[in-house]
Amino acid sequence: MNFKRTDFPPGFVFGAATAAYQIEGHKFGGAGSTHWDTFAATPGNVIRAEDGALACDHYHRYAEDLDLLKDAGMDAYRFSTSWARVMPDGRTVNAQGLDFYDRLVDAMLERGLKPFQTLYHWELPSALADIGGWANRDTTQYFGDFTDVITDRIGDRVHAIATINEPWCVAYLSHFLGHHAPGLRDLRATARAMHHITLAHGVAMSRLRGKGMSNCGIVLNFDHTAAADDSAEAAQAAIVQDAINNRWFIEAITKGTYPAEVLAGFDPHMPDGWQDDMTQISQKMDWLGVNYYTRHRVQADPGAPWPAVKDVPGDLPRTQMGWEIYPEGLHHFLTRMARDYVRDMPIFVTENGMAWDDTVENGSVYDPERTQFVADHVLAAKQAIADGANVQGFFYWSLLDNYEWAFGYEKRFGMVHVDFDTLKRTPKASYHALKAAIAR
Ligand code: FCB
Repeated sequence: MNFKRTDFPPGFVFGAATAAYQIEGHKFGGAGSTHWDTFAATPGNVIRAEDGALACDHYHRYAEDLDLLKDAGMDAYRFSTSWARVMPDGRTVNAQGLDFYDRLVDAMLERGLKPFQTLYHWELPSALADIGGWANRDTTQYFGDFTDVITDRIGDRVHAIATINEPWCVAYLSHFLGHHAPGLRDLRATARAMHHITLAHGVAMSRLRGKGMSNCGIVLNFDHTAAADDSAEAAQAAIVQDAINNRWFIEAITKGTYPAEVLAGFDPHMPDGWQDDMTQISQKMDWLGVNYYTRHRVQADPGAPWPAVKDVPGDLPRTQMGWEIYPEGLHHFLTRMARDYVRDMPIFVTENGMAWDDTVENGSVYDPERTQFVADHVLAAKQAIADGANVQGFFYWSLLDNYEWAFGYEKRFGMVHVDFDTLKRTPKASYHALKAAIAR
């Protein structure tokens, strides 16, 4: 890695991120069915119909996994607390679930790792999917109740809390594009989910503040979106797609408004009285999480219904996901967030990383592509700090190879390789490189 810890301001946080359903092993500990279990069990949705039932068995192996973070010299661990583990039907408490997160947080503190908790990283309890999931406003209040229950148990020990991970994925990717659970392709459900997941953030913020919690924020994903050519049509398509991808949530939570370019499509389908929720949605936060992976280039798709935009493949090198590698995009969003939305509020890069078809040879994993990727993106964050963004940390996605949603176990994002037959963990060369770079 061509950077070192001392290139960053004192207190800058280096960490790695995971999410509950992707690593824990959902079949353990009395967790309830989620919409990901049934989405995965439906033919054609997930590669080999794989699910998170076993995943990395982090539920039992968490001590070994936290040791890996500690041994790398990491400062923090970004994890999520599964709603369906804590409340299997979304409403009734499962003591085993609370006990697990209690043990997990204590184990982080024992190792000197700051716990960065995410309340919702996508495992909606099936019982709430049955009543319409995020298309139903009631789900936001049940989410508030979950926020209360988990915070009463571990809120005294977590360092930072994010309400929602990537609301764009929760709402748009899952209800409009149909790629994630619940796999809908429906404009009306999308408009409602786009609002209700934003409201869920506001409701959770209110509940957290009601308990006197500080250091509360949200994690948004950003996708660099630009016109594929010089035409006025492509420029307009990029404005619309950028508003959908990159403006809807940040404008709602910082300004209390939704972009007109997106309301142009959603307005007839928005829930009645949505305007009345915007004050709760835009209450003060303490930090912003930025997840960033790639870019997209777009053109107009004349004759197609709103948003009438189509992707045009770019020509940059790609990861195993087929995602173009574009570190400049991270600098773009960090400086854009500071300039247009959050000013001096702390920003954390809460996810950045790449998948590669890594293999273990003679006991080690050689992944120079990932080392380069991380170095380039960390340096983009460093440049953003020099350009005025208050970036206070960088979390690699992910600590472990894990359940990559619709791609099952095929796409390896980890700095630590996981053999999904034996569950053996093998730190990759990039893990050792990052460890050397951030050594004190
Ligand atoms: C993000 C998700 C995370 C992981 C990475 C690759 O969108 O937050 O769970 O799947 O992408």
